[in-house]
Amino acid sequence: MSGIYIHIPFCKKACNYCDFHFATSVRLKPQMVEAIIQEINLRTAYLQGEKVETIYFGGGTPSLLSEEELNAILYTVYQNFEVDPKAEITLEANPDDINKSHLEQWVKAGVNRLSIGIQSFKDEHLKWMNRAHNSEEALQCVQLANESGIHNISIDLIYGLPQLTPKQWQENIQAAIELGVPHISAYCLTIEPNTNFGYQFKKGQLKPIDDEVAVEQFEVLMDELQNAGFDHYEISNFGKAGFYSKHNTSYWLDKPYLGVGPSAHSFNGKTRSWNIANNKKYVLGVESNELMTEEENLTISEQYNDYILTKLRTIWGVNTDEIQSKFGDTIAKYFEKNIQKQINNKLITLNSNNNFVLTQSGKFVADRVCMELFYTN
Ligand SMILES: C[S@@+](CC[C@H](N)C(=O)[O-])C[C@H]1O[C@@H](n2cnc3c(N)ncnc32)[C@H](O)[C@@H]1O
Repeated sequence: MSGIYIHIPFCKKACNYCDFHFATSVRLKPQMVEAIIQEINLRTAYLQGEKVETIYFGGGTPSLLSEEELNAILYTVYQNFEVDPKAEITLEANPDDINKSHLEQWVKAGVNRLSIGIQSFKDEHLKWMNRAHNSEEALQCVQLANESGIHNISIDLIYGLPQLTPKQWQENIQAAIELGVPHISAYCLTIEPNTNFGYQFKKGQLKPIDDEVAVEQFEVLMDELQNAGFDHYEISNFGKAGFYSKHNTSYWLDKPYLGVGPSAHSFNGKTRSWNIANNKKYVLGVESNELMTEEENLTISEQYNDYILTKLRTIWGVNTDEIQSKFGDTIAKYFEKNIQKQINNKLITLNSNNNFVLTQSGKFVADRVCMELFYTN
C-alpha cells in the first residue's frame, strides 16, 4: 500500500498564519502543471510497484486547478501507477472555490474526499486571518459538497487565536458538528516566523495566547467532538468510524509515499526526500530532467524518533515488540525504561491491544512526552 501527494503551490491570498509553500501569482500555473506531470513520469519507480491506495492534492490551494489540469495530473498518475479502484482521492478545497460546477468536475475526475479549509465560522476571525471566504460560504460549501455526492468531507478549524472567546470556540465546534461532516482537523494557531503573524509578533503587535488557554480550548474540543461521536484518532484529527483520513493515516503508520510538486516530501521506508520549495527553480529543474530534490538517509535512532513522534500521537499507539523488530534491542530497552516514567506520571497507558497510547492528560503535553522518549545517543 502506498500514497501519492501532489502539491499545488498557488493561493488567491496569503493567509496571515501560513508558512506552507505557495505563491499568490498564478502566472506559472500552466508550466507548473506540466512540470508536475513530468515529475510523475520521472519518478514512477519510486513506489517500487506498490499499489496506490490514496492520492492527495494539497497546497496551497488545489481547488484553483482547472478541470483540464486536474484531469491531466490524475491521468498521468493512472498511466504510471497501479491505482486501487477504490482509492481515496482527496482534494484540499477552499470554501470560496466550492460551487456546483467545480464539484461536478471534481466528482467526474474521481475526487471522492474533500478537505475544506474553513478555519472559523466567524467573519471577524476569517478577516483577521486574511482568508478569502466568509462565514456564509463556510456553511454553504459543505451543503453543496454533500449535494454533489461527496460525503467524505473533512473540515479544518483553527483555535488559539488571541481574541477567540470560550463562547465563540464552543459555537465554532457546534457549527462544525451541526454541518454533519464526518471528519474534523483542528489545529492550535502557531505563529511561524516568515508569516504576517510572525512579523506582527516580532514587532510586539501580536501576543500569543497562554498555554493554559490553549489547553482549555483543546479540552473543550475533545469533549464536544467525542460526545458527538467522533473518534480522536490522531492528536489534531477526529473522525467518525469509517471516515479516518486514509492518506494521513499512512503517514503516521510509516507507509511509503511519493510527494510531487515543489516542497513535497517523499518517504520510501528508509529515506526521506523533499523537493525544492521554489516554483521557478522547481519548474526549470524538471524541464531539464533534473529533480531538485534533497535526500536524507535516516539513522536508526532518527527512524525511531520519527516513529515515536508520529505513531504515539495516534489512537493505535506504539509497542515494544514493533520497536524491537524495527529498531533493535538497544532502542527497545531504552524505550521500555523510559516509557515507565510516563506511565507513572499517568501520561501514557496501555490500551486493549497492549499498545502504549497517550492518556487524556498525555494528549495535552504530547510534544514533551515524545521528546522524553527520543533516543539521542
Ligand atoms: C495545507 S493547509 C490547507 C491549505 C488550504 N488550501 C487552506 O487554505 O485552507 C492545512 C491546514 O493547516 C492549518 N494550518 C496551517 N498553518 C497553520 C498555523 N500556522 N497554525 C495553525 N494551523 C495552521 C490550517 O487549518 C490549514 O487548513
